[in-house]
Amino acid sequence: MFKILIIGGCLMFSFSSFAAEVTTLKADGIHDASGAGFSKLQEPKEALSDFPRRTDGTINWVKALDQKLISPRSNKVGDGKMTSVNLDLILKNTGSMPYVLFSHKVHTQILTCSNCHVEIFLPKQGSNFINMNNIMAGEQCGVCHGAVAFGVQNCAECHSVPSKKGALR
Ligand code: HEC
Ligand code: HEC
Ligand code: HEC
Repeated sequence: MFKILIIGGCLMFSFSSFAAEVTTLKADGIHDASGAGFSKLQEPKEALSDFPRRTDGTINWVKALDQKLISPRSNKVGDGKMTSVNLDLILKNTGSMPYVLFSHKVHTQILTCSNCHVEIFLPKQGSNFINMNNIMAGEQCGVCHGAVAFGVQNCAECHSVPSKKGALR
């Protein structure tokens, strides 16, 4: 019944509902509980209760989008269009692990380019030294994964492309 609108341009703010699943609106540090309209707001816990989940219990935003439970906006007022690009990259600096498939399509249906480029990643394959230490420290992919999207526990969600090296070990 209720739609959650996710605005790519202010991802951290909009997605804060994720952390707020365990926090109430009153305690989330964002909403003003003394505001006149406060009592009309729906608690995130209720709004997100029947959203599809990943195995780690985090919301599966990709499925939520497929099921039209969310309709991302390109900006605050919602007068722009989301620009999604179809550009799959296979990231191969994975040691003995399977390669990582990074789908621009998936990410740009939910996010705008500037959510990642150029502050988090330079838009040139191989120009960012990505590794698990950084990700687990909340940098690179970890800016979102482990915060507003599924975390590192499920390796196979990211390391999904078999590599010859991996198979030999
Ligand atoms: C600015 C935020 C952000 C960054 C940075 C980010 N992601 Fe994501 N990613 C998301 C969100 C949000 C989803 C949707 C989560 C879900 O559906 O569970 C997602 C989904 C995914 C998925 C699931 C795709 C599918 O088909 O279900 C993979 C795999 C993934 N990201 C890999 C990566 C990798 C690898 C990196 C770093 C190179 C990365 N992401 C960086 C936000 C981000
Ligand atoms: C959110 C996506 C994501 C998840 C989940 C993830 N990885 Fe990674 N991993 C990456 C990316 C991206 C790279 C770097 C690939 C590149 O730059 O070519 C990487 C690199 C690696 C590397 C080689 C570099 C390094 O840091 O040593 C190893 C080993 C690795 N991952 C193991 C794991 C294991 C084990 C898990 C599960 C516990 C895991 N990864 C979960 C995205 C992920
Ligand atoms: C969730 C993060 C994220 C978003 C959003 C994102 N990108 Fe990227 N982009 C990446 C990553 C990660 C790489 C690969 C970096 C690497 O290999 O070191 C990349 C690489 C690129 C490249 C270089 C490809 C190549 O072959 O060298 C281009 C071009 C690019 N992105 C364009 C875009 C455009 C245009 C948008 C918006 C429509 C966008 N990206 C949105 C994460 C993102």
